[in-house]
Amino acid sequence: WPAGAERVDGAVRIGGADLREVAQAHGTPFLLVDEAVARDRARRIRDAFEAAFDQRGVDVYYAGKALLTADVARWMRAEGLRIDVCTGGELTIALRAGVEPEAIGFHGNNKGFAEIEAGVAAGVGTFVLDSAIEAERVAAAAERAGRVQRVRLRISVGVHASTHEFLATSHEDQKFGVSVGEAPALVARIRELPSLELVGLHTHIGSQIFDASGFAESARRMLALHAELGADAPLPELNLGGGFGIAYTGTDRPEPIEQIAQSLADAVRAAADELGVPVPRIAIEPGRWIVGPAGITAYTVGTVKPVHLDGGVRTYVSVDGGMGDNPRPALYGAHYSARIADRASDAAPALARVAGHHCESGDIVVDSEWLPADVAPGDLLAVAATGAYCHSLASNYNATPRPPVLAVRDGAVRVLVRRESIDDLLARDAGLDAATPGDA
Ligand code: LLP
Repeated sequence: WPAGAERVDGAVRIGGADLREVAQAHGTPFLLVDEAVARDRARRIRDAFEAAFDQRGVDVYYAGKALLTADVARWMRAEGLRIDVCTGGELTIALRAGVEPEAIGFHGNNKGFAEIEAGVAAGVGTFVLDSAIEAERVAAAAERAGRVQRVRLRISVGVHASTHEFLATSHEDQKFGVSVGEAPALVARIRELPSLELVGLHTHIGSQIFDASGFAESARRMLALHAELGADAPLPELNLGGGFGIAYTGTDRPEPIEQIAQSLADAVRAAADELGVPVPRIAIEPGRWIVGPAGITAYTVGTVKPVHLDGGVRTYVSVDGGMGDNPRPALYGAHYSARIADRASDAAPALARVAGHHCESGDIVVDSEWLPADVAPGDLLAVAATGAYCHSLASNYNATPRPPVLAVRDGAVRVLVRRESIDDLLARDAGLDAATPGDA
């Protein structure tokens, strides 16, 4: 539950806004982001890394893939963060939100020609190169534009991050970056290209990681490579990526970010001492850690039914959203926690499963939760920690319009992204523009 969540007269309040009133004004489902929480966390993670590394101006790139709207981009910028984008779409949001191109980092393992052109033309600060082919493409685009483009090279360090297989990104057999063994030749080639300026190396070992040892190991390996490749020409910075885990349920216990930052700094310092090189300027790229805990999704309960199992009963509580607005349980087996948000209840807890309204049995919002046994149609059900990778992963499965993204600040709620309408969906169906046979 976001810092500052409280229950007043039985109803949950987030950032001073009563969820009952938000539901009345905006309908359900909705994603509500507490602006203060997101901004506090942006500051806190930067402060944690600056303190641990004893560096002012650690570059924190907010990973826009977690949640990117024009206002979210502006909040992050206002807190001094830079913005990491990985598609032309994310780039456009950041630019139209007024983010200075210089403050944008452009990621992606297969940026299209048009995306590369657009990034170079806009003047993005750095491209993170993912392959030899891409180095040539960015160099060619920069040359055509008559610019020198700053770049970083993404390295796959071979660390096996302990997280879901789909969220690990730096073991050997995956698509991102180039291996430690391939890096020297590619760095030499990048340095031959006059339209590219290599400013440093980058790695990202995966997402939703709790254990600092994977980060520390990757930092050690990156520093060794950084020292080796910086011997000929200096590499001013080192980007250690994102991936810092958050609590989704009461049993998740991520290490505090200050501790993670300290483990990383200790590993980097020890490696730098051993190698006799200075600690480079550090950059990180957190997404989930900043916005995940700031968001909450509220649904209306539609049906409640008991399913009798050997040795018990499970109550299926179906809500008016599901895998369309949060596919994470279906994709990664992710767990969330839910509460009735519009009233208090003294009823005994009953084992419940919160299901969505999509035509698929894997459409589960919360796999297993103790909810008051009197949970009933019409109740407002809130699911915590949905700020990251819910709106950004949302789909229109079953022709379902996507919910709005709302923000609360000092008790006042405003719309960041409006609710999608069925007309929005139908606007793309070319067959509906033509006269139907009956009209002829
Ligand atoms: N940097 C790079 C290069 C990345 O690929 C990612 C995430 C991040 C930073 C930010 O990671 P974070 O700090 O948010 O963990 N859809 C999945 C997560 C995919 C993450 C992809 N890359 C999920 O819902 O869990």
